[in-house]
Amino acid sequence: MNEQLVTRVPVVAIDGPGGSGKGTVSTAVARHFGWHYLDSGAIYRVLGYLAHENRINEHDVSGLTALTHDLDIEFQEEGVVLDGQNVETLIRTEEAADRASRISPIPEVRRSLLEWQRKQARPPGLVSDGRDMGSVVFPDALCKFFITATPEKRAERRYKQLREKGFGVKMEILLREIAKRDERDAMRKASPLKPVEDATVIDTTDMSIGNVISSVLEEVNRCL
Ligand code: DC
Repeated sequence: MNEQLVTRVPVVAIDGPGGSGKGTVSTAVARHFGWHYLDSGAIYRVLGYLAHENRINEHDVSGLTALTHDLDIEFQEEGVVLDGQNVETLIRTEEAADRASRISPIPEVRRSLLEWQRKQARPPGLVSDGRDMGSVVFPDALCKFFITATPEKRAERRYKQLREKGFGVKMEILLREIAKRDERDAMRKASPLKPVEDATVIDTTDMSIGNVISSVLEEVNRCL
């Protein structure tokens, strides 16, 4: 096929650790352009939730991989909808994050989710948020970002978020959990968390979220 005739859907890949602000930035960018939004972390959280509900052990690779088939997930303004049910509050707890971080290192699970994730790149465009968006899922993305912040700052933001949602948490425990998940994400063999060479790295530790969004939008406009 003539390459010139192939219209490619623009994809913006936004990766980084939890609590870096990438979720807020990604939704703001998607809203700004009127594009679709893929929260890939939510898929691992949903899998953790489904595994727990169906009593599937975190070492049962075929059972977990089977859960990835026929996933019916939608990302709506009100949150993540699974099989028509809003599961937002169920998948945002610390337990759900922990389950997701135990399942996400499994290569068979990651491989099985690739096609589903790639199908989310539909016109007019997609903003994808995760750990391996720029490296594995959308290596040809138009624009790639790696958004980060110190573990202390990320724990502080997470603390505020969870308190606002009414969850009782302790700062020291949160910091320890974040460090543990960071290590799991960075040390795993399958798609470890690290910035790709062509990503724009933004450290949000001392930035307001408004400033982060403006710098990302500026850079995306340059890529378009
Ligand atoms: O971003 P989050 O906290 O919702 O992600 C939940 C877990 O899923 C976290 O442990 C990292 C993992 N994850 C991943 O391995 N790959 C992605 N593309 C997104 C998230």
